[in-house]
Amino acid sequence: MDQEKQNSTILTLKKVGKTYDNTVHALQDVNISVEEGEFVSVIGPSGAGKSTLLRCINRLVDATEGEILFDGRDITHVTGKDLRWVRTRTGMIFQHYNLVNRLSVIENVLHGRLGHKSTLSGVVGYYTEAEKEQAFEILDRLGLADQAYKRCDELSGGQMQRVGIARALMQEPRLILCDEPIASLDPSSARVIMDYLKAINETMRITCILNLHQVDVALKYSERVIGITAGCVVYDGLTENLDKKKIHEIYQSEEGQLIIDVDEGGK
Ligand SMILES: Nc1ncnc2c1ncn2[C@@H]1O[C@H](COP(=O)(O)OP(=O)(O)O)[C@@H](O)[C@H]1O
Ligand SMILES: [Mg+2]
Repeated sequence: MDQEKQNSTILTLKKVGKTYDNTVHALQDVNISVEEGEFVSVIGPSGAGKSTLLRCINRLVDATEGEILFDGRDITHVTGKDLRWVRTRTGMIFQHYNLVNRLSVIENVLHGRLGHKSTLSGVVGYYTEAEKEQAFEILDRLGLADQAYKRCDELSGGQMQRVGIARALMQEPRLILCDEPIASLDPSSARVIMDYLKAINETMRITCILNLHQVDVALKYSERVIGITAGCVVYDGLTENLDKKKIHEIYQSEEGQLIIDVDEGGK
């Protein structure tokens, strides 16, 4: 029984398409299945549809075609309480952190709890002692316990992203979606963030899907890579089978060349 659960599929996209304004085909016929506990990187050039893919999954945008199943439920068109369930169970990490800068670190982390609360206690900022304890534990896990009462705008980028991760964990998500989580960070802060995400995935078994601009980072951290070009999945498989030729196909540009060179120099 436990064994069965360990191998369960948490996310399935069936023939998913997204057309913006009836003209821009951002995603076309996307078929993806993700098992619980996977750490998957999504790569592809700018404008390929990576952000749209993550936003369709947590329903920040509505797919115009196909079906999305999350944790066994069809969430493609859910609204109200069911949509809130989707948003609570999928934590989102953004390139620019999306914190409330004038609020403290701990307040931002507690915001992760809002989806679990009644509107009223959320509005008046009421959190239980247990929730506050949990928020401190999470901050501690991310090495931020001593920053809890700082305003977010006093933090470095790497620290802000750790607050973003802490807020996502506070939601008690099944799935964490990261949209270019390290694109605004220097290499050493980027490594710290990637190590935390990987550790969360491994120790808490939270499934992670990351849009990454850096192919070398994707190759280093994930066993599985999904390559998207012009809205289509052109690669979905083990990282070790992703060769140079395939990376070129995914990027279709000099950008790919550049990144491959970096990759070959590193690791
Ligand atoms: N809100 C939107 N309205 C119209 N077009 C959009 C919107 N968001 C993204 N697009 C277009 O959809 C395509 C995919 O964008 P996006 O998902 O942001 O790609 P990526 O994250 O890979 O850079 C691009 O052509 C982009 O211009
Ligand atoms: Mg994007």
